[in-house]
Amino acid sequence: MTSSALLLLGRGSDPTSERGVDCPGDLPPASDPNLVARAQAAKAALGDRVFVLGHHYQRDEVIQFADVTGDSFKLAKDAAARPEAEYIVFCGVHFMAESADILTAASQQVILPDLAAGCSMADMANHQQVIEAWDVFVEAGIADGVVSVTYMNSTAAIKAFTGEHGGTVCTSSNAERALNWAFEQGEKVFFLPDQHLGRNTAVLQLGLSLDDCVVYNPHKPGGGLTTEQLRAAKMILWRGHCSVHGRFTAENVAAIREQIPDVNVLVHPECQHEVVLAADLVGSTEYIIKTIEAAPAGSAWAVGTELNLVRRLADAHPDKRIVFLEKTVCYCSTMNRIDLPHLVRSLEALVAGQVVNQIVVDPTVAANARLALDRMLALP
Ligand code: 13P
Ligand code: SF4
Repeated sequence: MTSSALLLLGRGSDPTSERGVDCPGDLPPASDPNLVARAQAAKAALGDRVFVLGHHYQRDEVIQFADVTGDSFKLAKDAAARPEAEYIVFCGVHFMAESADILTAASQQVILPDLAAGCSMADMANHQQVIEAWDVFVEAGIADGVVSVTYMNSTAAIKAFTGEHGGTVCTSSNAERALNWAFEQGEKVFFLPDQHLGRNTAVLQLGLSLDDCVVYNPHKPGGGLTTEQLRAAKMILWRGHCSVHGRFTAENVAAIREQIPDVNVLVHPECQHEVVLAADLVGSTEYIIKTIEAAPAGSAWAVGTELNLVRRLADAHPDKRIVFLEKTVCYCSTMNRIDLPHLVRSLEALVAGQVVNQIVVDPTVAANARLALDRMLALP
């Protein structure tokens, strides 16, 4: 189908077309009953020219159009493995689309359907703050032995800083391998921006103690740490957290165990240390999915991660009892920004030859960030 044919189809079948939804840059109203058909038609018209990636925390209405789903590690690899796709539509958040832009060829264009889909954790570390932290390490005489490990959930600028300073990116799937690698390169790890993933991995997987970890607060002079504390520490954790996973508590775990005595508690490593300690199992979203898939029928699970994923798991496994760990914790509001109207707008605009909301990382930043991402992809 040609672009104009698709637009005509959209016009004919869309009762709201008089209000201007035919313009490819316009957002269709959520009430449009033809959104699914429009997304299907636009995707079919684009064929192999478009590759749609969907993070596990995306809404069902969006996930149904994803060519692949995954956690941030899998999606980064999947994006890099599709050189023939002209357009990568990333249904996820901004830092993921940036990583996709860095890992894909210059000829490929990465689109984030809603530019407001950011990440509060990634926003907790900005480039200037990280440069200042490094200056603090230089002052303390420790910088030469510090290796940076940056969680995927960070801006491209922070990944670039990490690349320039000989460090690596990690995700929740490979944080243990990344930390082991980093301790082979130096004496201390500067882990940012998620203090919880850093602490949980260092203590529970590498066997470091809580006393080996200090928290660097970018809003305090010197990070709020003394030179002695910095010199004694093995892990310097950035004071950042996920606003979704950070809300689960050890009390939630105790309450669910009261309610469902044979429950297995399965949480993401972005949860607080006490929550992970109280849980039975901890792992990335891919790990959570595989664990539930492999669980025997009749088993009971309380899952501490984003709600869209937990609900999908419960729907996909009616033979198992799957509940959300805490009923007042809700969706990741920024992940949820990507909805069907935004996806339809992105796809129809592409059919019309317009790229709306392209994510382009500055070439120098991209080159340095790529160093850190390539180190991650090369981890054993
Ligand atoms: P993973 O996709 O690496 O499990 O990370 C979870 C997350 O919070 C993504 O924003
Ligand atoms: Fe960021 Fe947490 Fe949302 Fe992931 S779930 S995008 S880390 S705020």
